[in-house]
Amino acid sequence: MELSEKVRKAIRNVPNFPKEGIQFKDITPILSEPKLVSEILDYWENVYRSEPIDAIIGIESRGFMLGAALAERLQKPFIPIRKVGKLPYETVTFIYDLEYGSSEVEMHKDALKPNWNVLVHDDLLATGGTAMAAAELTKKMNAQVYGYCFLVELAFLEGRERIESYSKNVDSLAI
Ligand code: PRP
Ligand code: MG
Repeated sequence: MELSEKVRKAIRNVPNFPKEGIQFKDITPILSEPKLVSEILDYWENVYRSEPIDAIIGIESRGFMLGAALAERLQKPFIPIRKVGKLPYETVTFIYDLEYGSSEVEMHKDALKPNWNVLVHDDLLATGGTAMAAAELTKKMNAQVYGYCFLVELAFLEGRERIESYSKNVDSLAI
Protein backbone atom coordinates (compact mmCIF):
# COMPACT_ATOMS: atom_id res chain seq x y z
CA MET A 1 0.00 0.00 0.00
CA GLU A 2 1.27 3.51 -0.81
CA LEU A 3 2.23 5.72 2.10
CA SER A 4 -0.41 8.32 1.21
CA GLU A 5 -3.08 5.64 1.37
CA LYS A 6 -1.79 4.35 4.71
CA VAL A 7 -1.94 7.90 6.08
CA ARG A 8 -5.43 8.44 4.70
CA LYS A 9 -6.64 5.19 6.25
CA ALA A 10 -5.08 5.90 9.63
CA ILE A 11 -6.69 9.33 10.00
CA ARG A 12 -9.91 9.21 11.97
CA ASN A 13 -12.71 11.46 10.73
CA VAL A 14 -14.77 12.74 13.62
CA PRO A 15 -17.99 14.48 12.58
CA ASN A 16 -19.21 17.66 14.28
CA PHE A 17 -16.04 18.37 16.28
CA PRO A 18 -15.22 20.91 17.66
CA LYS A 19 -18.37 22.46 16.15
CA GLU A 20 -21.44 21.32 14.27
CA GLY A 21 -20.63 20.87 10.59
CA ILE A 22 -16.85 20.50 11.03
CA GLN A 23 -15.33 17.10 10.31
CA PHE A 24 -12.23 16.78 12.49
CA LYS A 25 -9.18 15.00 11.07
CA ASP A 26 -7.79 13.14 14.07
CA ILE A 27 -4.13 12.17 13.59
CA THR A 28 -3.72 10.42 16.95
CA PRO A 29 -4.16 6.96 15.35
CA ILE A 30 -1.06 7.71 13.24
CA LEU A 31 0.93 8.58 16.37
CA SER A 32 -0.13 5.23 17.85
CA GLU A 33 1.59 3.39 15.01
CA PRO A 34 5.34 3.84 15.37
CA LYS A 35 6.08 1.98 12.13
CA LEU A 36 3.85 4.36 10.20
CA VAL A 37 5.48 7.34 11.94
CA SER A 38 8.88 5.97 10.87
CA GLU A 39 7.68 5.60 7.29
CA ILE A 40 6.37 9.17 7.23
CA LEU A 41 9.64 10.50 8.65
CA ASP A 42 11.67 8.35 6.21
CA TYR A 43 9.68 9.83 3.35
CA TRP A 44 10.08 13.46 4.42
CA GLU A 45 13.71 12.93 5.38
CA ASN A 46 14.34 11.68 1.87
CA VAL A 47 12.47 14.58 0.26
CA TYR A 48 14.22 17.31 2.25
CA ARG A 49 17.63 15.86 3.15
CA SER A 50 19.48 17.50 0.27
CA GLU A 51 17.47 20.73 0.26
CA PRO A 52 18.87 24.01 1.60
CA ILE A 53 16.70 24.10 4.72
CA ASP A 54 17.97 25.90 7.82
CA ALA A 55 15.14 25.16 10.27
CA ILE A 56 11.80 23.41 10.70
CA ILE A 57 8.86 25.39 12.03
CA GLY A 58 6.14 23.41 13.81
CA ILE A 59 2.79 25.01 14.61
CA GLU A 60 1.10 24.47 17.99
CA SER A 61 -0.11 22.02 18.79
CA ARG A 62 -0.58 19.30 16.25
CA GLY A 63 2.41 20.44 14.25
CA PHE A 64 4.75 19.85 17.18
CA MET A 65 4.94 16.06 17.24
CA LEU A 66 6.10 15.22 13.75
CA GLY A 67 7.70 18.62 13.20
CA ALA A 68 10.10 18.08 16.09
CA ALA A 69 10.76 14.50 15.00
CA LEU A 70 11.53 15.64 11.44
CA ALA A 71 13.86 18.38 12.70
CA GLU A 72 15.81 15.76 14.62
CA ARG A 73 15.96 13.54 11.51
CA LEU A 74 17.28 16.43 9.40
CA GLN A 75 19.50 17.65 12.25
CA LYS A 76 18.07 21.15 11.95
CA PRO A 77 16.72 23.51 14.62
CA PHE A 78 13.05 23.04 15.54
CA ILE A 79 11.21 26.35 15.96
CA PRO A 80 7.81 26.32 17.67
CA ILE A 81 5.08 28.75 16.71
CA ARG A 82 2.70 29.00 19.66
CA LYS A 83 -0.69 30.43 20.42
CA VAL A 84 -0.45 33.84 22.05
CA GLY A 85 0.81 34.13 25.63
CA LYS A 86 2.69 30.84 25.81
CA LEU A 87 6.22 31.77 24.80
CA PRO A 88 8.24 33.24 27.68
CA TYR A 89 10.70 35.48 25.82
CA GLU A 90 10.12 38.43 23.44
CA THR A 91 8.01 37.51 20.44
CA VAL A 92 6.71 38.55 17.04
CA THR A 93 2.96 37.99 16.64
CA PHE A 94 0.37 37.58 13.90
CA ILE A 95 -3.46 37.40 13.99
CA TYR A 96 -5.30 35.22 11.47
CA ASP A 97 -8.66 33.62 10.63
CA LEU A 98 -9.30 29.92 11.29
CA GLU A 99 -11.72 27.45 9.71
CA TYR A 100 -13.62 27.96 12.97
CA GLY A 101 -12.85 31.28 14.72
CA SER A 102 -9.67 33.36 14.82
CA SER A 103 -6.31 32.98 16.47
CA GLU A 104 -3.09 34.80 17.29
CA VAL A 105 0.28 33.10 17.07
CA GLU A 106 3.79 33.99 18.13
CA MET A 107 7.40 33.08 17.59
CA HIS A 108 10.40 34.01 19.67
CA LYS A 109 11.99 37.04 18.07
CA ASP A 110 15.44 35.42 18.00
CA ALA A 111 14.21 32.04 16.69
CA LEU A 112 15.11 32.59 13.03
CA LYS A 113 18.23 34.17 11.56
CA PRO A 114 17.85 36.60 8.63
CA ASN A 115 17.71 34.86 5.23
CA TRP A 116 17.16 31.39 6.66
CA ASN A 117 15.12 29.00 4.53
CA VAL A 118 12.49 27.35 6.67
CA LEU A 119 10.28 24.35 6.20
CA VAL A 120 6.85 24.87 7.77
CA HIS A 121 5.20 21.73 9.12
CA ASP A 122 1.65 21.25 10.36
CA ASP A 123 -0.69 18.26 10.51
CA LEU A 124 -3.40 19.82 8.38
CA LEU A 125 -3.79 22.40 5.63
CA ALA A 126 -7.41 23.58 5.73
CA THR A 127 -8.12 27.24 4.87
CA GLY A 128 -4.38 27.98 4.97
CA GLY A 129 -4.76 30.70 7.63
CA THR A 130 -2.45 28.98 10.09
CA ALA A 131 0.26 28.18 7.56
CA MET A 132 -0.03 31.73 6.21
CA ALA A 133 0.50 33.06 9.75
CA ALA A 134 3.67 30.96 9.97
CA ALA A 135 4.83 32.40 6.65
CA GLU A 136 4.07 35.95 7.81
CA LEU A 137 6.01 35.44 11.04
CA THR A 138 8.88 34.05 8.98
CA LYS A 139 8.77 37.18 6.79
CA LYS A 140 8.74 39.43 9.85
CA MET A 141 12.02 37.79 10.86
CA ASN A 142 13.51 38.50 7.41
CA ALA A 143 13.68 34.79 6.67
CA GLN A 144 11.80 32.92 3.92
CA VAL A 145 9.58 29.88 3.55
CA TYR A 146 11.40 27.20 1.57
CA GLY A 147 8.39 24.91 1.60
CA TYR A 148 5.54 23.40 3.58
CA CYS A 149 4.83 19.82 4.54
CA PHE A 150 1.48 18.64 5.82
CA LEU A 151 0.06 15.25 6.65
CA VAL A 152 -3.35 16.14 5.27
CA GLU A 153 -4.70 18.76 2.90
CA LEU A 154 -8.39 19.59 2.59
CA ALA A 155 -8.15 20.61 -1.06
CA PHE A 156 -11.74 21.87 -1.26
CA LEU A 157 -10.87 24.71 1.13
CA GLU A 158 -8.19 25.92 -1.31
CA GLY A 159 -5.68 26.73 1.45
CA ARG A 160 -2.87 26.04 -0.99
CA GLU A 161 -3.84 29.15 -2.93
CA ARG A 162 -3.39 31.27 0.18
CA ILE A 163 0.12 30.07 0.91
CA GLU A 164 1.68 29.57 -2.51
CA SER A 165 2.69 33.23 -2.76
CA TYR A 166 5.29 32.50 -0.04
CA SER A 167 6.46 29.19 -1.56
CA LYS A 168 5.02 26.89 -4.21
CA ASN A 169 6.79 23.94 -2.60
CA VAL A 170 3.77 22.39 -0.82
CA ASP A 171 3.91 18.68 0.05
CA SER A 172 0.80 17.02 1.50
CA LEU A 173 0.86 13.29 2.15
CA ALA A 174 -2.87 12.76 2.00
CA ILE A 175 -5.13 14.99 -0.11
C1 PRP B 1 -5.84 23.03 13.18
C2 PRP B 1 -4.80 22.20 12.46
C3 PRP B 1 -4.01 23.25 11.71
C4 PRP B 1 -5.07 24.30 11.39
C5 PRP B 1 -5.50 24.19 9.95
O1 PRP B 1 -5.25 23.57 14.33
O2 PRP B 1 -3.97 21.50 13.38
O3 PRP B 1 -3.03 23.84 12.53
O4 PRP B 1 -6.19 24.04 12.25
O5 PRP B 1 -6.51 25.11 9.66
P1 PRP B 1 -6.34 26.31 8.67
O6 PRP B 1 -5.56 25.84 7.46
O7 PRP B 1 -7.77 26.65 8.32
O8 PRP B 1 -5.66 27.41 9.38
P2 PRP B 1 -6.05 24.23 15.54
O9 PRP B 1 -5.98 25.70 15.36
O10 PRP B 1 -7.40 23.61 15.62
O11 PRP B 1 -5.22 23.91 16.83
P3 PRP B 1 -4.40 22.64 17.38
O12 PRP B 1 -3.38 22.23 16.38
O13 PRP B 1 -3.76 23.19 18.61
O14 PRP B 1 -5.38 21.54 17.68
MG1 MG C 1 -3.07 23.10 14.52
